[in-house]
Amino acid sequence: MPFKEGDLVVFADQHGRLHPQHLSSGGCLYTEWGHVKHEAVLGRDPGCTVKTSGGKELFVFYPTVLDYTMKLRRMSTIIYPKDTGIMMMWADIFPGARVLCGGVGSGALLLAVLRQVGPGGQVVAYDVRQDMLDCAADNIKAYFGPTPQLVLKLGSIYEPIEEAGFDRVLLDVPEPWRALETAHSALIPGGIICAYVPSIVQVEDFTRALRRSKAFALIETLEVLVRNWHLEGRSVRPEQRMVGHTGFLTFARKLDRPLARETLTFSEDETRTGQESAENGAASPERREATPAGCFSGGGGPPGPVAGQGGGNRPGQWR
Ligand SMILES: C[S@@+](CC[C@H](N)C(=O)[O-])C[C@H]1O[C@@H](n2cnc3c(N)ncnc32)[C@H](O)[C@@H]1O
Repeated sequence: MPFKEGDLVVFADQHGRLHPQHLSSGGCLYTEWGHVKHEAVLGRDPGCTVKTSGGKELFVFYPTVLDYTMKLRRMSTIIYPKDTGIMMMWADIFPGARVLCGGVGSGALLLAVLRQVGPGGQVVAYDVRQDMLDCAADNIKAYFGPTPQLVLKLGSIYEPIEEAGFDRVLLDVPEPWRALETAHSALIPGGIICAYVPSIVQVEDFTRALRRSKAFALIETLEVLVRNWHLEGRSVRPEQRMVGHTGFLTFARKLDRPLARETLTFSEDETRTGQESAENGAASPERREATPAGCFSGGGGPPGPVAGQGGGNRPGQWR
């Protein structure tokens, strides 16, 4: 479709550096190599080439979600496309899905989710800060236009919510284990939960809470490393720099009922010394034996070490 006024486009140089622009008849892009008037692009097809006043060739495209995510206005740290890409596949976000998100931030994750669920999906997203919701709403509108399938709500995902029946729950909040009870109530049986956290101690607390609940299975944690390659003449090698760390992704699937105590094959406590357990305020194995299955009746304190399920994470069985 040829470019028209109001379109969001990117001017790209041969090194892949992108300059996003909303096209207008009087508009102009200024670069280190001179300027280009938007008129040079209006009515032309995506993929066209223009020259700056300094003679540099630029390519013009509609921005992909990835392009746009890397350029959007940020009020928070964002989840980068390398991670949202894997989240979409591992959490199986599908067209028409109902997705609950906790932690809206700048809306980067929501862009990926909206692209994936499409117009037939439904996305409800909570944040405790109105300025974050406003920032995300602006970013999302600038890319997708109106999105009636998205509801942004001011509130804490750590508290009960009124919505239910979600296929997927995606969390990017500091203490995702505190959102587990809400997520559990909101998810359909077989639904998938994913939490993104930057630190491994958060992963530990979240997976412990998942195990303690006995309400989730197939718990899996991974991180995503992307290594670009330099391809120039005979110089064909990995790039010398890469992003070393962003965050960890933990996934789990909701069971239709809490696991029975007898089906548990692995106790985290067995890997700890008595002193460690005492320091962490863990109940003794005998005492835990007497606790009813499922932790959601057990109050909102930090997750203590309790019986796990199925031997822990699956270390990349098929991959
Ligand atoms: C790192 S940002 C999320 C970034 C977002 N995923 C993105 O890709 O742009 C974390 C967000 O979680 C929000 N937050 C913190 N505690 C929360 C809670 N209890 N419920 C909902 N949102 C919360 C913060 O206000 C912040 O906007």
